[in-house]
Amino acid sequence: MWIFTFLSFCFFFSCGLGTQFPEIIEMEAVSTSVHTFPKDFSFGASTAAYQIEGGWNEDGKGPSIWDTLTHTHPEIIADHSTADIGADSYHLYKKDVEALKKVGFQHYRFSISWSRIFPYGTKINAKAFDYYNKLIDELILNQIEPVVTLHHYDLPQWVQDEGGFLNPNVIEYFKLYADTIFREFGSRVKMWITFNEPFDACTEGYGRGVSAPLIKLSGVGEYICGHYLLLAHASAYHLYKSRYAKDQRGMIGITLDGRFYYPKDATVTNDIVERAIQFDIGWFANPIFSKDGGYPKVMIDEINERSKKEGQAWSRLPKMSKTTMKYVKGTADFLGYNYYSSRLVRLNTSDFDPNAVPSWLSDTRLIYETEPSWKQAKSSWLYSVPQGLHDVLVWFKNQYNNPLVLITENGWSDDGRLDDNDRIEYLKSHLISVSKAINEDKCNVIGYTTWSIIDNFEWTRGFTEHFGLFTVNLTSPEKERTAKKSAGYFHDVIKNRSV
Ligand code: BGC
Repeated sequence: MWIFTFLSFCFFFSCGLGTQFPEIIEMEAVSTSVHTFPKDFSFGASTAAYQIEGGWNEDGKGPSIWDTLTHTHPEIIADHSTADIGADSYHLYKKDVEALKKVGFQHYRFSISWSRIFPYGTKINAKAFDYYNKLIDELILNQIEPVVTLHHYDLPQWVQDEGGFLNPNVIEYFKLYADTIFREFGSRVKMWITFNEPFDACTEGYGRGVSAPLIKLSGVGEYICGHYLLLAHASAYHLYKSRYAKDQRGMIGITLDGRFYYPKDATVTNDIVERAIQFDIGWFANPIFSKDGGYPKVMIDEINERSKKEGQAWSRLPKMSKTTMKYVKGTADFLGYNYYSSRLVRLNTSDFDPNAVPSWLSDTRLIYETEPSWKQAKSSWLYSVPQGLHDVLVWFKNQYNNPLVLITENGWSDDGRLDDNDRIEYLKSHLISVSKAINEDKCNVIGYTTWSIIDNFEWTRGFTEHFGLFTVNLTSPEKERTAKKSAGYFHDVIKNRSV
C-alpha cells in the first residue's frame, strides 16, 4: 500500500516539511480555522510530459499526436505556440524539483512521454530512460515521492497512424510500453497511474475532434476510444500485478476526471443529477470500481435506444461482454481523481432528431449551466465550486465502497500574476472541502495534488492560461522559475497540515 510505502519512506528519509526558503513569502495567519489533514496524508503537485518537457525531438524521441497537432495546425492553439521547448524541463528538471522542495511537497505527479521510449514502433529507445532516471533519482534525493502517469494525452504518432484508440492494437502497444516502464523504473516508483482523464482524451480527441488527434467521429469514436482505453488500462494493471507487484510493492490506479452536478431548479429530480454523474464519471469509474462492473445502466439503455431510433444496427456504445467486464472490474488499487469544477443540470426536453449527428452530449439528454455566483477563472470552463469536490468524494465513498482516492489534480488558472490571491482562495476552499470529506465523512482520501507546480503549455490554450504556483520565464534560456504568492501559501498549509 502506498500509504505504508510512503510511511516507511518517510521513516528512512525523514520527510521534511517546511524548510524555509528566502523567496517564499511567509503568509501571516492565512487561516484561523481548524481544517486538518491526517498525518499520513500526502501533499503534492502535478505536471505532464508534453506540457513541460520540451526537447520534443531530442535523443531519439518520436512525435506524439500533440507534436503533430501543434506543428500542422498552429491556428488551433490560442497563441499559435508549441511546447517544443516550453519550460524545458527535459534539461531543467532540477529546477522543478527545487520548486517542489521549496513548497515542501511530498509527492510529484509527472508523466512519461511514450514517444520518447517507443518513438516509431515497438523498438525501444533506451536513451530515453536517462532523463526519467535522473528525474526520479533527483526526487528521491529530495525526499519527494514520484507518482508516475504512463499516458497523459500524448499518444505516439505511430500508434495514431494505425488508428490510435480506435484500433484494439493500442492495448498490446500500451501493455508493452507499461511493461518496459515498470521494469525500468519500478524499483523506485511505487505509485502508478495508467491513464489521465479518459473522458477528455476520448470525447475531445475522438468524438468532437477538437484536441489531438482531431478525429471527428461524434457519438461513435469517443465510445470506441473509451472501450479500448479501459482494456489497455486493465491489461497494464494485470501485468503489474502478475509480474511486478510482489517485488516492487507499488500501487496502480487510473486518473479520472469529471464534474459534480447539482439540480438547476426544483423540477430536476435526483435521477437526472445521477444521470449526469454516471454519463461523466461513471462511464469510466463503473467498469473499474463498481461491484458489478460494466458501463452504467443509464448509458447502456440510453445509447442503445437512441441508436435504434437513428436506425443503427446496434448500439454506438460497444457491448462489454461478461469476460471483458470481469477483466476490467477491480483493476485499480486507488482512484486518481482530477477535480476542477461543477455544473448545474436539467433535462433537455427537445424532440429527438433522427438526422442530427449523434454525440456524447446529445446522448446525455441534459443541459449544463453555471451559477452566476460561481467565480470564473481565466479558463472559460473553470468556475470555483469547492462544495463539488466534497460532494464528489462522498459520492465515491457511497457508490464504490469507499475506495482509496488520490486527488491527482486541482487548480486555478489566471493571467500569470505573482500576486495570485484568487488561486490562494480557490486552493484554500478546495482543501477545506477535502479536509471535511476526510474528517467528517470518513472518505478514504490519501493525498492531494495541485495542478500545477509551474506554468506550462495549456493544450489548445497554449501559454495564455497559467495554473502554476511558480511562473516560468519562457524568454530566457535559463527559464527561471519564480514563486508566486500561492507557493508561500501552500508552504504554510503543508507546514501546519491544516487550512
Ligand atoms: C489536464 C491537464 C490540464 C488541466 C488544466 C486537466 O484536465 O489533465 O493536463 O493542464 O486540466 O486544463
